[in-house]
Amino acid sequence: MIETNNKSNILIVDDEPANIDMLGEVLMPEYKIRVVVNGPEAIEIALSSNPPDLILLDIMMPGMDGYEVCKRLKADMRTSKIPVIFITAKSEEEDEKNGFQLGVVDYITKPFRLSVVQARVRTHLTLKKYQDHMEAIVREQTEDIRAANNQLRIEIDERKKTQTALEQTNQSLEDSLSRLQETRDHLIQSEKMAALGGLVAGVAHEINTPVGIGITASSFLSLETRKYAERISQNELSMDEIKKYISIASEATAIIESNLKRAGDLIQSFKQVGVDQSSKDRRFFRCKEYLDMVLLSLRPRLKNGRHEVVVDCPELLEINSYPGAFSQIITNFVMNSLIHGFAEESKKTIHISVSQQGEQLLFRYKDNGKGMSQECVEKVFEPFFTTKRNKGGTGLGLHIVYNLVTQILKGAIQCTSHPDEGAEFIITAPISP
Ligand SMILES: Nc1ncnc2c1ncn2[C@@H]1O[C@H](COP(=O)(O)OP(=O)(O)OP(=O)(O)O)[C@@H](O)[C@H]1O
Ligand SMILES: [Mg+2]
Repeated sequence: MIETNNKSNILIVDDEPANIDMLGEVLMPEYKIRVVVNGPEAIEIALSSNPPDLILLDIMMPGMDGYEVCKRLKADMRTSKIPVIFITAKSEEEDEKNGFQLGVVDYITKPFRLSVVQARVRTHLTLKKYQDHMEAIVREQTEDIRAANNQLRIEIDERKKTQTALEQTNQSLEDSLSRLQETRDHLIQSEKMAALGGLVAGVAHEINTPVGIGITASSFLSLETRKYAERISQNELSMDEIKKYISIASEATAIIESNLKRAGDLIQSFKQVGVDQSSKDRRFFRCKEYLDMVLLSLRPRLKNGRHEVVVDCPELLEINSYPGAFSQIITNFVMNSLIHGFAEESKKTIHISVSQQGEQLLFRYKDNGKGMSQECVEKVFEPFFTTKRNKGGTGLGLHIVYNLVTQILKGAIQCTSHPDEGAEFIITAPISP
């Protein structure tokens, strides 16, 4: 509630003592009254540390008239808000208009009725208090809005910073991702090369046997031939001996022929595996035939430990797929069985079965080795997961298998294993990916 009469300060500016007496008498009980008789004094009081709440201002005064006083009060920030009421004998409409134009709040003409002066003074003081009150509220709210604004700006700045930080993190994550991708491609390539190297060693070993037998047979034949040639030159050769030589020569050439053929076949098949292993070429091939060929290339490793490999695959099952991928997958499985699965004393068997189920190929690989814990099974396809890190394992073998199955063969792979119950890998992939 805004009080109007808690002794507001009123300044009367008039040079006529009769007016001053009258106004003072009627306003005195309610307000604190100060009186000055000229403009400059009025301005001085208005500028003092105790300015009036309202000014009753006469217009016709010697020296500085009321218009001039009002103009100066309104022009100064410190006094412009003090309400001014003109009290004057100038009653023309024009005079009144001039007064309002200068910014007075009211215009009372002489002779005035005291009750009117009283009522108007009270009204303007009340209005002034309302105005002050409203201004205070507006100031307060402006302050609140400014504070909220500042807070908002701070938050926006914070968000911008967070966003920039996030963008940087994102960028560096993308960078590491592409570096990882490069590393992975590189590693896959080196793994392929390593497998190819192993294959070459296997090839050399396998070919050694038939070539060796061939050389032995041919040197035996050449020795025998020289012996018989000598006997012929001495005319000592009987029909029986001729027959014997013919039988030795046919036996030796048969051995040479079959072993050379075996070596030729081996070279042919290894050439195939080698090419498939380093290229992603797709072609029609018979699963059983190809499987046997791959296992043959792994024989030097398998033979040492007297492992048994059982293959169960229809002879005529033919698929249009990527033999290189199969070759690598089988090689990695077998190497893992040898390195991780088979302990010294265990009975070592590998079971491979391939079958067609509609448009899908079902490939199962199972060993009877020492198996894996559940924890291992869950991580087995993760890159760099290995339990033989300090013995040369990199943990990429099965990750590569996983990539080949999912990316090249467009299939799925699953591992099942329990400790002491061997490891099993099941691949399903379209016959024609
Ligand atoms: N047949 C298996 N029997 C038992 N454990 C296996 C078998 N195959 C894989 N594992 C386990 O899975 C892990 C991951 O195999 P993976 O082939 O990916 O890597 P690695 O053989 O350790 O190393 P790399 O193949 O790169 O030389 C192995 O370290 C091993 O613990
Ligand atoms: Mg491995």
